[in-house]
Amino acid sequence: MQVTFRIRRYNPEVAGKDKPYWQEFTLDDVEPTDRVLELLHRIKWEQDGTLALRRSCAHGVCGSDAMRINGVNRLACKVLMKDVGTKIQVEPILGLPVLKDLIVDMEPFFEHYRSVMPYFVNDDPPPADGRERLQSQEDREKFDDTTKCILCACCTTSCPSFWANGEYVGPAAIVQAHRFIFDTRDQAAKERLDILSAPNGVWRCRTIFNCTPACPREIEVTRALGEVKLAIRKGSPEGVIKV
Ligand code: SF4
Ligand code: F3S
Ligand code: FES
Repeated sequence: MQVTFRIRRYNPEVAGKDKPYWQEFTLDDVEPTDRVLELLHRIKWEQDGTLALRRSCAHGVCGSDAMRINGVNRLACKVLMKDVGTKIQVEPILGLPVLKDLIVDMEPFFEHYRSVMPYFVNDDPPPADGRERLQSQEDREKFDDTTKCILCACCTTSCPSFWANGEYVGPAAIVQAHRFIFDTRDQAAKERLDILSAPNGVWRCRTIFNCTPACPREIEVTRALGEVKLAIRKGSPEGVIKV
């Protein structure tokens, strides 16, 4: 089967390529079960070694190959050719500065991530018997979904509110904050809720819902944001039921 790719290119170091442009490539002998990442590798290795893309695990785990495929944010390693057809358009995710071809600068994204205290806080000494801090299954369930985030940025870079204002902390950072806010063993929920109450915090979310279908881990992103909003209104994560 023959497949045609239309790829957004950009190379700031080469005259004539230092403005974004589209380039087409044709591949023969493509199987319906080939992944888009494999096909991009074939283009890079067989036709144009200058094509720049980011990837690592090739198995949907590292989150490094987020890109816009036929207008939808996806991980290239998780998308089969048969699911996107024989004409495939690939471009960088939106809202972050493009460095080269499909590679964007993730630093603004990780800056937002770091701003929400995405780590466990508990100043009490650990249990004397050397065991872990225990938690009921019911309490663990409250943040189970948001532990699955791999920080791929598919959600944040599909959010029109983020496109309009890159200072918005974005859904990925809020998902990460949710994971700790709703952990009953953590002691910094109030600080995180204060951070997310700021003008560029969770209230920039207008419930547009692009983020939820964009998530390759099938996290209910908009629901998590709704729970954080409810916790802010109540002044505490306690008693917030699944929305
Ligand atoms: Fe990626 Fe989903 Fe995490 Fe957003 S919530 S960064 S889409 S894994
Ligand atoms: Fe954006 Fe998702 Fe909210 S797309 S506006 S973060 S529901
Ligand atoms: Fe790691 Fe796709 S290359 S998630």
